[in-house]
Amino acid sequence: MPRLNNEDWRAAARAALPRFVFDYVDAAADEGLCLQRNRDDLDRVILTPRVLRDVSRLETGIEVFGRRWAQPFGIAPMGLNGLSWPRGDEVLARAAAAHGVPFALSTASNARLEDLRAQAASGIHWMQLYVMHRGLAEGLVERAARAGYEALVLTVDVPVSGNRERDVRNGFRVPFKPTARFLFDVARHPRWAWRMARAGRLDFANLRVEDAPGADSASLQAALLTRAMDRSLTWESLSWLRRLWKGPLLLKGVLHPDDARRALDCGADGLIVSNHGGRQSDASPSAIAALPGVVRAVGGRAPVFMDGGIRRGNDVIRALALGARAVFLGRPLLYGLASAGATGVEAVLSQFEAEMQRSMALLGLENLDDVPGSGLVNDPDLS
Ligand code: FNR
Repeated sequence: MPRLNNEDWRAAARAALPRFVFDYVDAAADEGLCLQRNRDDLDRVILTPRVLRDVSRLETGIEVFGRRWAQPFGIAPMGLNGLSWPRGDEVLARAAAAHGVPFALSTASNARLEDLRAQAASGIHWMQLYVMHRGLAEGLVERAARAGYEALVLTVDVPVSGNRERDVRNGFRVPFKPTARFLFDVARHPRWAWRMARAGRLDFANLRVEDAPGADSASLQAALLTRAMDRSLTWESLSWLRRLWKGPLLLKGVLHPDDARRALDCGADGLIVSNHGGRQSDASPSAIAALPGVVRAVGGRAPVFMDGGIRRGNDVIRALALGARAVFLGRPLLYGLASAGATGVEAVLSQFEAEMQRSMALLGLENLDDVPGSGLVNDPDLS
């Protein structure tokens, strides 16, 4: 059966992956209300088409920090992509490069940042930073600069891990202790098991023991899986990072307009409005509902991006209409990756491209520069 949309890919990923992997990718915090809110609020953004405009040639490209993106979307940083498919980070980064869109590598990647950068050399590479402790973070930032990453994304919505009960029930932790249920789960997915066995050992490749002399590797790896972060990170500590990283610095996970202003005062060059795909606080507003307030607070001083719940071309335009410069895609790409590797990722990116073009033509948009403030959005509460 052809896979035409996110739900098709999600169903294919559910079939392909052992339950503990599918749950890790798919699940959210607590009751999953925030995850659902991301979708519900996007669905409520109504776009009124304008007609009889020349849409014979559509321009989907945008410019960000002096680089041309072929589409107004990129691939969000996600940890443990190698569990969905062998060398998942490389597969995603190569597809992003081929489509002319950025790929953000997670601190919790399975590819080592230097290797990844070399393998998809022509792409637009951003590095996401988790601060578990400052010394470790400094090492990562220096390595990212040396390897040629173009922007640094500090994720600020993980002072502690969200409560993901599906992961807890599945016993998903380091060191991993295989239970009978786990072995049964894996045995029911022999193709996944075979691929993984051939790919070899999986680890958080950016945080091996040589990267943190004196630390023991197992506890470093476990800390990253449980997202045991430096809880004392504050606005004041941001100047430390600002001094270390010379390129564009973005904060990911900002939802409040006052935080947006403060971020810019502290030297951030851009913001990603995000609730981590509903994986952190279940009480958070949806990213799309938080976006207009942040955009107003920023007042054009820096680009504002968003992620969370983007599943169709229309969703991309919805976010742009509410002031986002571009969006990031999360789970849809992992569903594609888990179902069919590079072919799946390629198909999902192509579907987004095709849907974007269709949406633009149907809305009467020749290019994306005119989208914000174009009066596309009906609801005065939102725009
Ligand atoms: C994430 N996300 C994430 N964010 C981040 O800053 N660092 C990380 O390591 C991860 N890891 C991660 C793993 C998985 C499996 C998922 C699904 C998500 C959050 C991600 O960058 C993004 O904010 C959301 O995925 C966007 O929501 P959607 O598109 O998945 O609904």
